[in-house]
Amino acid sequence: MRLQRKLSDDYYQPAEDTFFLADHIGKEKGYSALDIGTGSGFLANVLSNNFEFVVATDISSGALKKAHELVPNCVCCNSADAINGVFDLVVCNLPYLPSEEILDRTVDGLREGLGVTTGILNSASKVVRKNGKIIYLTSSLANYQELMKRTMKMGLEPKIVSRKKLFFEELVIVECVKI
Ligand SMILES: C[S@@+](CC[C@H](N)C(=O)[O-])C[C@H]1O[C@@H](n2cnc3c(N)ncnc32)[C@H](O)[C@@H]1O
Repeated sequence: MRLQRKLSDDYYQPAEDTFFLADHIGKEKGYSALDIGTGSGFLANVLSNNFEFVVATDISSGALKKAHELVPNCVCCNSADAINGVFDLVVCNLPYLPSEEILDRTVDGLREGLGVTTGILNSASKVVRKNGKIIYLTSSLANYQELMKRTMKMGLEPKIVSRKKLFFEELVIVECVKI
């Protein structure tokens, strides 16, 4: 018998990386915010405390089914590709793990953890207002220095604002201002 995975199981359970980024973005304030790759909707829900208009996207419809329990504005699309408009703040807990191929969309990021993340940030850079910010989480497991160089070419000024050592990696939060 074919095993069927329930759509509702198809999302990233909030973990150490989620909580680290949540603590950081909890201090941000503004009118509009976008959470790309929202998973369970945890980060979008945190943003709802300090932003009037919050949108969450994910490539997984199963994730959005879960996120919709917390966030009214959910869009199923690649990165921010279906979004028309600009936001004060865009956040993303990226799928940054280096991988040969994408077997698990919640974590696999292709070569050096750059393949998926570069595309996501390129799309994100088009929906943040001038002087607005993108805040993303990556890790020492990925080539985050190269990712920062790439974000500069997207018209963003990236800066590492926080780090957290875990047992096998260091989490890195990068803030980029749109110039
Ligand atoms: C590491 S999980 C983070 C989930 C959640 N934001 C959190 O912090 O708990 C990455 C999320 O990005 C989503 N994702 C992966 N590739 C994507 C893409 N190209 N566009 C939109 N979402 C994507 C995955 O489905 C997953 O929900």
